[in-house]
Amino acid sequence: MPNAAKILVVDDEENIRWVFQKALVKRGLEVDAAASAEEALEKIQTSDYLMVFTDIFMGGQSGLDLLDAVKPIAPGLKVVVMTAEDTMNNTIEAMRRGAFDYIGKPFDFDEVYALIDRALKSRAAARPEGEPEGPAGREGFSLDAIVGKSRRMQEIFKTIGRAAPADLAVLITGESGTGKEMVARALHYYSPRRDKPFICINCAAISRDLLETELFGHEKGAFTGAVESKEGKFELADGGTLFLDEIGDMELALQAKILRVLQDHQFFKVGGRSPIHSDARIVAATNQDLAKLMEEKRFREDLYHRLNVIPVHLPPLRERMEDVPLIARHFLGRFRGVLGRGDIHLSPEAERIFLGYRWPGNIRELENVVKRAMVLASSGPILLEHLPPSMTEGRSPEFWEDRLVRLIDDYLKQSPHQKDGRLHEHLTQAIEKCLFEQLLKEHAGKQVPVARKLGINRNTLKRKIDQLGIDLKKVKNRH
Ligand SMILES: Nc1ncnc2c1ncn2[C@@H]1O[C@H](COP(=O)(O)OP(=O)(O)OP(=O)(O)O)[C@@H](O)[C@H]1O
Ligand SMILES: [Mg+2]
Repeated sequence: MPNAAKILVVDDEENIRWVFQKALVKRGLEVDAAASAEEALEKIQTSDYLMVFTDIFMGGQSGLDLLDAVKPIAPGLKVVVMTAEDTMNNTIEAMRRGAFDYIGKPFDFDEVYALIDRALKSRAAARPEGEPEGPAGREGFSLDAIVGKSRRMQEIFKTIGRAAPADLAVLITGESGTGKEMVARALHYYSPRRDKPFICINCAAISRDLLETELFGHEKGAFTGAVESKEGKFELADGGTLFLDEIGDMELALQAKILRVLQDHQFFKVGGRSPIHSDARIVAATNQDLAKLMEEKRFREDLYHRLNVIPVHLPPLRERMEDVPLIARHFLGRFRGVLGRGDIHLSPEAERIFLGYRWPGNIRELENVVKRAMVLASSGPILLEHLPPSMTEGRSPEFWEDRLVRLIDDYLKQSPHQKDGRLHEHLTQAIEKCLFEQLLKEHAGKQVPVARKLGINRNTLKRKIDQLGIDLKKVKNRH
């Protein structure tokens, strides 16, 4: 049995978990267990499972919630829902939400084995030998796993799971770099439109006139330079999904035209006479505050309501800090192969900085910081010096205290003075010497400002300089 054939069983009843483990291990399968949907989700994000068997009713989130939530993070994963016999509706609901299958409780393990065989076969058929498993769609459309275990992200996963199959407009809001485009892609990937195109257009990056022809296309001769007729994004996205990125930046006149397409499901090319039918699902995104834009009459309210049928708000990363280490590790894993950095990992102090940082650029910034650090730290751990200076400067007192604690910790472990009974003297002298030398260097050897800065008497400083053997000439010559 290939070792990737790992199974996760999710049930709040310990008995069931135990029985599963016994039965499957006997078959040479590897089995993990989780007592709740929350725990399962965390495991799914850090391990590679062939399939999951989950109970529906558990304390906390249900198995159906879990089913919704895993779609965006582990697209290939096969989820089997276990139901009590009288929950017909749940069974239908489970299948509608994309369960691989369901089994009624109490069940026969032959049924379970048969399902596992089917999952193994379907995986083997889905990818040629040796090709890594990944959620790659047809014609280059691929989906990266959306990572996150915070409650806020779990809610988003569920919304994606539920909204994807519905043919309704979705409006994604959130600060720059929070993953809006990722969510748009996931919505397409899990919709019945998945094999049709996903077309993306950034409304902020294109000038007004060009945007109109990009969206609607143009006829031959519509304007100077229009030597051929061209299809617009609405036409290209027919049957698929049209992602209108940065919709808040679109001009009012064009907003009116978009609104008309949404109402009539048809449009005209620039310079065209005959209407063209469009069946594209609209997903829009913006990092702007549309309520404010509407107040200022810069965004049409009617268009807003057309787009905002299903709202998805992505919280900034600083409001879901528990996701930071997980996402950082995700990027480390992703770039390890690309950059050829096998053993690279995050040092505890780098992780601490990550957790204390505000991440104004959100996940995109985290991605860039990880990438940069991996290039700088050619192997081994990512240390503070591999992070952008702006992240490590201007830290809080707790931060410095923390570093000092760890420094002293190391000193205590490795210092040669450990056993001579003069540890206090050695350490405090070493620190004082360092401190005085640095400050004297900064002030070109002038003792008055240094004593003032230290808050000690000038004579005391003089005495210490003698005692510690600080070479004033050397200190002065540095500057
Ligand atoms: N939850 C997540 N897990 C893993 N990667 C993520 C996640 N969210 C975002 N990313 C990655 O972060 C980067 C930024 O995401 P994306 O482009 O979707 O953000 P955005 O909100 O559209 O940003 P912008 O407003 O700057 O266009 C991408 O490389 C994306 O793959
Ligand atoms: Mg974007």
